[in-house]
Formats: sequence, structure tokens, C-alpha cells
Amino acid sequence: MVRPLVCAAATLVLAWAVAVGPALVQEAAAALFAAHRGGALLWPENSLRAFRGALELGADYLEFDVHLSRDGEVIVIHDPTLDRTTTGTGPVRERSLAELRLLRLKDGTGAATSEPIPTLDDVVALAALGHRRMLLEIKVDERRRRYPGIEEKIVAVLDRHGMGAATVVMAFEAETWGRVRALRPDIAAGALYSPGTLRAMGSTASRELEAAHAAGVAVVGLRQDLVDAAIVAAARRAGITLGVWTVNEPGALRRFADLGVSIVITDRPDLAKALLKR
Ligand code: G3P
Ligand code: CA
Repeated sequence: MVRPLVCAAATLVLAWAVAVGPALVQEAAAALFAAHRGGALLWPENSLRAFRGALELGADYLEFDVHLSRDGEVIVIHDPTLDRTTTGTGPVRERSLAELRLLRLKDGTGAATSEPIPTLDDVVALAALGHRRMLLEIKVDERRRRYPGIEEKIVAVLDRHGMGAATVVMAFEAETWGRVRALRPDIAAGALYSPGTLRAMGSTASRELEAAHAAGVAVVGLRQDLVDAAIVAAARRAGITLGVWTVNEPGALRRFADLGVSIVITDRPDLAKALLKR
């Protein structure tokens, strides 16, 4: 008597899957993960060691931040100043590449490591070698000014490595992602929003999602407290790839994956690998 019951149950499950359709079944399993600053809770943030570790863990994307040096090199570092994460002090934009190369990154405790500050070229070369994608975030300087010409320099590095198609170039500033769109419509542009930036704009996540879509943005990155089922559905309707940051708790990682968020951005790629990779 047990076997016919099992067969009936299996048939029902199959019928449900067929009725729901492959898209929904696939979406539920399709959350990709990005190693935020390479995996900032595991290694010195935005270090080559972090990016190598993230690649070894199978991160789908490397997420990192860029600024310009005094002599116009694109540098991978989160803050506009050197003090928190390196052995140096002062604004990144006041140092030449040669000066920055002499500095070392600090670890999470603030102790100096042997890790240098990477250039964009260093990180793109690693991602290309590992056949992985990138979420490249363009930052502003210590006075919140955009770096003139940074978009062109980034595109040149991506092209040199043949990595334009594997990269989302993101920013909080609409002028920056707008410039990426104007310069190279073939490269995916990403718009970032936090509760604070939305408040300053007097806007909402769903309104900005529509505006970003109309402006040709491919990816929208939202801080995790802005993400719920309604915004996931709105992104899907608009054909926008939705990323959520920065998700470091196991329960939250599972919840955002189950909600159907496309990219979960995390400082804990080890946890994401264990929880999201099926
Ligand atoms: O991916 C977006 C997220 O990285 C933005 O915040 O400050 O970590 O660069 P932040
Ligand atoms: Ca970032």
C-alpha cells in the first residue's frame, strides 16, 4: 500500500513543478553571491588575498570599491582616505601609485599585514584568470566629489582584460552610473541605494527602481533593510537584476535567496557558499 502512495505523491510534486514552470523553480535556486570587499570578515578587505580566497570559495562575483590616485591610477580601496585600512594616512587622491605601493593593508584588528593596496588592473586580472564576474563600485573622494575621468579609465582596464561583459559598474551617484551608460551602453551599469540616500532624494526604492530601469540600468543594489517581497517582485517586473547588501547572517542569507534576490552581497562568502550553493 505504501508504494502507490509514494508514486502518487511524486506525481503530484512533478505536476506542481510543471504547473509552476521552470522559471520559478530556477529562480528559487538561482541566488548568486558576491564577496563584499573580497570577503571583509574573512580577510583584509579589498586585498588580493581576499579576492583569491573568494575565488577559491566559488564566489560568483567579486565586489570592490575604487578611487583614483594623484597620478590617475585606479586603486581598489573602500574609503577615500588611507587611515582605517592601510598603514598610510590622508586622502588616496593625494598619493601617487608609487607611494601607495609602499603601504600595507591592515587586517580586521587594525594590525598591518604584508598585503599591498591593489590596483584595478591587479583585481581584474585575477577575476579574468578565475573566469568570475565583478561588481565594481566607483566611489567619490574625501570631499564627496566625483573623480573626473574615472569612468573612462575603468573602461580601458576592463577592455584590456576583455572583462567588460563580466562587470557591473556601480555607484550611488546617478551622474556616475549615467556616465557609464553614456560611455559604454554595452557594459552593465548598477545603481545603489540606501535608506539615507533615498531620504536625501525624497524618494523610495520602488520609484528609483522604475527610474533606473528607464535610464537603462541593469542592476540595482539595495541595502538589506530596503528589500522585501514587493521590491523583489517590482525588480522582476522591471527586468532589473536585484542585489542586496551586506548580508552576513545565515538566516538573512537564506531569506533573501528564498525571496528571489538575484545577488546576495556578503562579507562571509564561506557562509554563502555553504548556504546558497546547491
Ligand atoms: O555593494 C554595495 C555596497 O558595497 C555599498 O556599500 O559602503 O560597503 O561600499 P559599501
Ligand atoms: Ca562597495
